[in-house]
Amino acid sequence: MEINGHTRLCGLIGNPVEHTMSPVIHNTLAKGQGHNLVYVPFHVEREQLEAAVKGAYGLNILGMNVTVPYKSEVRAFLKDIDELAEKIGAVNTLVRINGGYKGYNTDILGLYRAMCSEKIKLEGEKVILLGAGGASRAVAFLCGEKKAEKVYLLNRSLDKAELLADEVNSAFGRECIIPMAIDSYEKLPDEKFLAIQGTSVGLYPDVDKAVIEDEEFYRRIHTAYDLIYKPAETKFMRLVREAGGQACNGLKMLLYQGIIAYELWNQVEIPEESAQEIYELLK
Ligand code: ATR
Repeated sequence: MEINGHTRLCGLIGNPVEHTMSPVIHNTLAKGQGHNLVYVPFHVEREQLEAAVKGAYGLNILGMNVTVPYKSEVRAFLKDIDELAEKIGAVNTLVRINGGYKGYNTDILGLYRAMCSEKIKLEGEKVILLGAGGASRAVAFLCGEKKAEKVYLLNRSLDKAELLADEVNSAFGRECIIPMAIDSYEKLPDEKFLAIQGTSVGLYPDVDKAVIEDEEFYRRIHTAYDLIYKPAETKFMRLVREAGGQACNGLKMLLYQGIIAYELWNQVEIPEESAQEIYELLK
């Protein structure tokens, strides 16, 4: 692509940003769509966050992604915020509107689209959600939004699971999230579950760990989604597979959060074949 007077810019705000795979997603999409657009990472220090968002608007930047550690803080500098992103309390995509940016959470929309593409549904499901940090928080709200029947929220610190459960249950006006301490997993009903792994345990380089090591636990899982994508098969996923369940990693979530951001910025629909092409590149 030739950079010229019409080139539009999108980018990523975070610290660090040097490891990001988002430029691969967006620059490949732009090429495939024939859009005159480039996507670059911006390493932003905390005290410069407001200036970065306002400056991006001033520079006519089309859209931004926001990553760690600013997904929550950035909300203070936005013109508007999408309802689900507001509930979750985290924004990873800024879409240019009149007078500023509107914040969205395409991480969670991306997870949902990834699940749909794997034919995994949340509606009416019994779910085990492992972890109550930032990533699991978004998943808990998604489960509320998509009307999962029951979500057993297991966390090492029970108090964090209880707080999150209260928040989601009151946001949706029903007792769908049940908080539990992670080491009391034996008390789970004797049924088969969809499991979503949202803790940081098993993330590279700690690849030989799983948040629950007991093989018995894994017999309860028919399908599992690990939000981690590095390594491509986490120990958690391996234990699920060894117990006869299906397991996916978080790479498709990463892919679709990018695709949905690109769609919001450019008001296009990316066809599934293009998504698959980028998925192969990311793998
Ligand atoms: P993220 O934003 O990626 O979710 P986070 O907010 O730091 O990161 O949350 C990390 C999650 O992994 C938490 O649920 C954490 O449990 P606590 O709330 O008890 O801290 C969980 N976690 C991290 N290390 C863990 C470990 N060794 N065993 C069990 N859970 C762990």
